[in-house]
Amino acid sequence: MGEDSGASTYILGTEERRRLELLEQCLDPMTTRSLDAIGVKPGWRCLELGGGGGSVTRMLCDRVGPDGRVAAVDLDTRFLDEIEADNLDVLSQNVLTDGIPGDAYDLVHARLLLMHLPTREKFVGEMAAAVRPGGWLLIEDLDACALPELAEGVFADLLSKAIEAFHMAGATATFGRQLPALFDAAGLEDVEAVSELMTFRGGSTAAQMFMTSMDQLRPALLAVGATEDLLEEFHAVASDPTNWFTGFAIYSVRGRVPEV
Ligand SMILES: C[S@@+](CC[C@H](N)C(=O)[O-])C[C@H]1O[C@@H](n2cnc3c(N)ncnc32)[C@H](O)[C@@H]1O
Repeated sequence: MGEDSGASTYILGTEERRRLELLEQCLDPMTTRSLDAIGVKPGWRCLELGGGGGSVTRMLCDRVGPDGRVAAVDLDTRFLDEIEADNLDVLSQNVLTDGIPGDAYDLVHARLLLMHLPTREKFVGEMAAAVRPGGWLLIEDLDACALPELAEGVFADLLSKAIEAFHMAGATATFGRQLPALFDAAGLEDVEAVSELMTFRGGSTAAQMFMTSMDQLRPALLAVGATEDLLEEFHAVASDPTNWFTGFAIYSVRGRVPEV
C-alpha cells in the first residue's frame, strides 16, 4: 500500500458493538489517565478521530461541559449518533479523503486509528496542525512488540497471522513504538509516552476482545493461510481461564503544540 493512498483500508470493516465495547473496557482506563494528565477543561474544543463505539467521545463531552464542544469523526457513525449530548457534532467522514475537520482545537485525540491508515506517519503531523498553540495532541495505538518473545502456541500462531493480514491491508500492528519520535519530529513539546503490556487470563474481557476481533478478521485470516482448525483452537485456548496471554502493548503518547 503506497504512502499516498487515499482509499479507506480499514480491515475490520463494519464493527459490532460488542467488539468495540470490549475494546473500550480494556483501553478506557489508560485513556482516562492520559486525559487526567492533560487536564481537559470545561469550555475546551476537542476533536476525536475514529470515535468508534463512542466511550472517549462521551468522556470528552462530559469533561468540556456545556461551554465546550466535541467533534467526533468516523467512517461508521452508528454508535456516535446514539450519544445524547448537546455539545457534540458527529461527522461521518473518511479522514484519509476528507482530511481533518476544523483547526485550533484544544485537544485532538485518536485511539487505534492510525495503525489502519497507510499515511499514518504523516498523519501525526496533520493532527498536530489541527491543535491550537498550547493545546494537546494525544494518540494511542498498539504494538505487538512482545509477541515474538512472550506469546506462544495457538495464540502466537493466530496473532502472527492477524499481523500478516493487517499488513496485507496496509495496516500495521507495530505503530505504537514509533509515536514518541513522530511527536518530536512534529515539533511537539512536553512529550510524554506510556506503554502498557496487556497481560490477561483466558475468558477475560481482553481475551473476549481478541476472540471477537479474530472472528471479524476471519476472511482475512483465512486468506493469509490460517485454517479453520487454528481459529477453533484459538477460541478454546482463549476461553480457558487457566491460560495467560501477553504480547501486545498499548502506547499512549501526548504532546503540546508550542505557544507562538
Ligand atoms: C479499532 S476502532 C477504535 C475505536 C475507538 N477509537 C476506540 O479505541 O475505542 C477504529 C475506528 O476507526 C474508524 N476508522 C478506520 N479508518 C477510518 C478512516 N479512514 N476515517 C475515519 N474513521 C476510520 C473505524 O470505523 C473504527 O470505528
